Amino acid sequence: MHISVIGSGYVGLVTAACFAEFGLQVTCMDQDHRRIAALESGEIPFYEPGLHDLVGKGRQAGRLTFTTNLTQAVEQALVIFIAVGTPPRDDGSVDLSAIEAVATGIGREMTSYKVIVTKSTVPVGTGRQVISWIESSLREPVRFDVVSNPEFLREGSAIEDFIRPNRVVLGAERDESVAILKDLYQPLYLIETPIVVTSLETAELIKYASNTFLATKISFINEMSVLCEQVGADVRLVAKAMGLDGRIGSKFLHAGPGYGGSCFPKDVDALVATGKEHRCEMGIAKAAVDANVRQKTRMVEKIRTALGDLNNKRIGVLGLSFKPNTSDIRESPSIAIIRLLLKEGAHIQAYDPEAMRETAQQLPELKLCSDSYEVSVDADAIVLATEWNQFRNLDLERIKTQLRTPIFIDLRNVYQPARMAKMGFQYWSIGRPSLPPA
Ligand code: UGA
Repeated sequence: MHISVIGSGYVGLVTAACFAEFGLQVTCMDQDHRRIAALESGEIPFYEPGLHDLVGKGRQAGRLTFTTNLTQAVEQALVIFIAVGTPPRDDGSVDLSAIEAVATGIGREMTSYKVIVTKSTVPVGTGRQVISWIESSLREPVRFDVVSNPEFLREGSAIEDFIRPNRVVLGAERDESVAILKDLYQPLYLIETPIVVTSLETAELIKYASNTFLATKISFINEMSVLCEQVGADVRLVAKAMGLDGRIGSKFLHAGPGYGGSCFPKDVDALVATGKEHRCEMGIAKAAVDANVRQKTRMVEKIRTALGDLNNKRIGVLGLSFKPNTSDIRESPSIAIIRLLLKEGAHIQAYDPEAMRETAQQLPELKLCSDSYEVSVDADAIVLATEWNQFRNLDLERIKTQLRTPIFIDLRNVYQPARMAKMGFQYWSIGRPSLPPA
């Protein structure tokens, strides 16, 4: 079967490469000529483990091709995935102009039956709008179906999440389109992936409900971490014991500097905005957002307390991306905290394994270091902001000798308080008692 994917961002490119891996013929279309030219020469525009090889494999097998030509992408395919950006507006609602442009373009080019699938995260009601955008741009009467197939992959483990998902959600109106989509996902039958078939509206809401629930779980444990610090409890053990209850589950209970990325902050805001539109107060989602903002400020307070004062202090920061295994710094807590520290007169020197280029563009005033160790040279403190694997086994003796004062602020609870104290660090972490250096 031939399919097309419109949009070559995170979701679009991973979807295209993974469907090609499933054995389908895939055309990936993007209007950005430079991006397509780069992809055609084997360059991947962002870092995602395994994606470079998977795209290469698909291209070599002749199953994955790239184009800027929408006519070609529509003509060849039976199923067309829309995976373009849905950026937030200032009021938290979602800007659907890219979806509208693509839907209208598809309608104009269509000459035979197609299934148009929204993969982008879109607010409830968008599927119906896509139907009307397509209908109003058709040049001749053509049958088509619209399906909502939200994506649940995470950056950093995108391929694994796509190939081994917990579930596939299909929001559709007619059995014919469901059967076609099930056919595409057939390789997942071997691993017995549940497929949830619903209406368009339900599928659209499942995505927002899932992301908001996960964000709320993080905000909850982050608030618990503050209480833990006050009463001398250990948030890691609180989370571990909570997670052993099957009704709660252990995932997404790691306390840290707050959630970031291109999805949670945007999607929780969008759900609140949808609630407002339908006069339905989304109090819990709002509280999760507020707690997340507070968490970042608290991190700065923690650093200030550790250092006494921030003005003119030199702080080494390990990790800039919003989480490990990605070069993405969108809504990264590390970047937000760095901005606040800079405002208070601190000097920052930082390192990240993949996100240096993106950071240099956004924060040119930052001193970027060439490795994990340069950040500690003559610094008053080290802040571990993103838990990349290579920061889990640092040569701590070397760091201690390079620091002006042995202050280590671990915003991801990577190290053990007792061991750090024994090594002579003033060690600060999240939701765990701070021990004085031994
Ligand atoms: C998230 C969802 O997990 C995916 O299922 C969804 O498909 C995606 O959004 C999307 O809507 O496209 P992603 O943004 O890639 O994926 O990253 P996550 O792994 O979910 O992490 C989000 C943030 O939460 C990160 O800043 C991470 O550090 C933070 N986090 C996560 C915590 O602070 N604690 C945790 O226990 C887990």
